[in-house]
Amino acid sequence: MSDRPAMTVPIARTSLLEDEIQSVLGPLRSGWLVQGPQVRDFEEKWSAFTGAAHSIAVTSCTTALHLSLAALDFGPGDEAIVPAFTWIATANVVEHLGGTVVFCDIDPLTFNLDLKDLARKLTPRTRAILPVHLFGLPAEMDGVNALAKERGIAVVEDAACGFGARYHGRHVGTLGDTGCFSFHPRKAITTGEGGMITTNDADLAAKLRRLRDHGAAMSDLQRHLGARPYLLADHPDAGYNQRMTDIQAALGAAQMARAADIVTERQRLARIYDDAFASVPWLRTPPRPAGMEHGYQSYACWYEPEAITVESIPRVNEKRNAWMDRLQQAGVSTRPATHAVHMLSFYRNKYQLSPTDFPQAWAANDCSISLPLFHGMTEAEQGYVIEQVFLNRP
Ligand SMILES: Cc1ncc(COP(=O)(O)O)c(C=O)c1O
Repeated sequence: MSDRPAMTVPIARTSLLEDEIQSVLGPLRSGWLVQGPQVRDFEEKWSAFTGAAHSIAVTSCTTALHLSLAALDFGPGDEAIVPAFTWIATANVVEHLGGTVVFCDIDPLTFNLDLKDLARKLTPRTRAILPVHLFGLPAEMDGVNALAKERGIAVVEDAACGFGARYHGRHVGTLGDTGCFSFHPRKAITTGEGGMITTNDADLAAKLRRLRDHGAAMSDLQRHLGARPYLLADHPDAGYNQRMTDIQAALGAAQMARAADIVTERQRLARIYDDAFASVPWLRTPPRPAGMEHGYQSYACWYEPEAITVESIPRVNEKRNAWMDRLQQAGVSTRPATHAVHMLSFYRNKYQLSPTDFPQAWAANDCSISLPLFHGMTEAEQGYVIEQVFLNRP
C-alpha cells in the first residue's frame, strides 16, 4: 500500500489563462521592455479598479513601501508605527531609511493593528503609521486617519494582501497618503515580482514617478514620445531604480480583465469554508466586520482560540504544529498566518524585545493557521481540505 496522500492541495497556486500567458509576448516582440506602454496600461487599469487617482507600478510591495516613505521625506530620527504581526518587509523599509520601528500590538479578532495600542505608541517623533490590511481584511482606517491627521503623521497603507478589499465601499490603498500592493505569486494578481503604489495626491504621484526612475524629471517613454527624444532628462532627485518591466505589466494588465471575477471567486471559496467550520469551537474563521469587504489573499484562522492565554500559548502551539504536520502528511499545505516581527532575531536583538511585549502578535504567531485558498481551486480540492481538517485534528 502506498503512503502517498489521495490528493495534494498547495497553500496557493498561480492560475493564469492562456491569453494572459500569451500577453507577455507582446512587449518581447515590440522591443520595449521596461516601463513603457504596458506599464502605463496596467497603471490605468489598476486606478480604474481601485478608484485611486494615480497608480505607480514598481518592482515589489517592499519597494512600494520604501518609495512611499522616501517620497514623504521619512528618514533618520523619525519613528514609524508598524503592527507587530505582519510580513517583515513592513518594518524593514523603516530600517532601510534609517528610521526607528515602533511596534504596536494587534486586535485578536481581526489580526489587524489594535487602535488603542497604536494611540499609546505615538510620540512627538512619530512621522508615519503603516496600517496593514492583513490577509485582505481592511484595517480600521477611520481610527488610524483620525490619529494621524490631527498630528500631521503620514499614513502608508500596506495593502500587499489588499486586492479586492473594501472599507465602507472604498478600495484599500486609497485611504491613506499612499497604498502599496504586491504582485508576488501568492497574491490574487501576480506579475512574478511586482508592486503598485496608489495615491490621490498628484504632487506625491509625480514625486513617486521620479523616485522610481533614478529621480528623472521625465520617463523614457515621455521622452521618446516628445518633440526632442534625443535630449536626456534632468534629475531633480537622487532616486532609485524601482521600475517595473513591460513584460510583468502585460501579465498584470491581462489579469485585470477578470479582476472582479477573481475577487468574487475567492469570496465564494471563503464562504464555503466559513459554513463548513461555523460550529467548530477549535477553529476561528476570518471575521466579516460590518462595512468591510475581505479580499481573501489568504484564509487565516485561529487554532483553539478559547484555550489561548499567555500561559497556554506554548501548549496550543505544540498542538497546532502537530496538526499542521498531519495535514502536510495528508497532502494539505497550511502555514502560520504570518510571523510576529518582534520575535524575529533582527528586531528582537536590535530593540531588545520579548514575545510578551506584544502578546496578541505572539499568540497569532504561534496559534494561527492559514488553509489553502486560491482562485482556480476545485470543488474536489476544497472538499478534501475540509475533510482532512476534521480527520487529522490532534
Ligand atoms: C503584509 C505584507 N507586506 C509586504 C509584503 C512584501 O511584498 P513583496 O514580496 O511584493 O515585496 C508582503 C508579502 O507577502 C506582505 O504580506
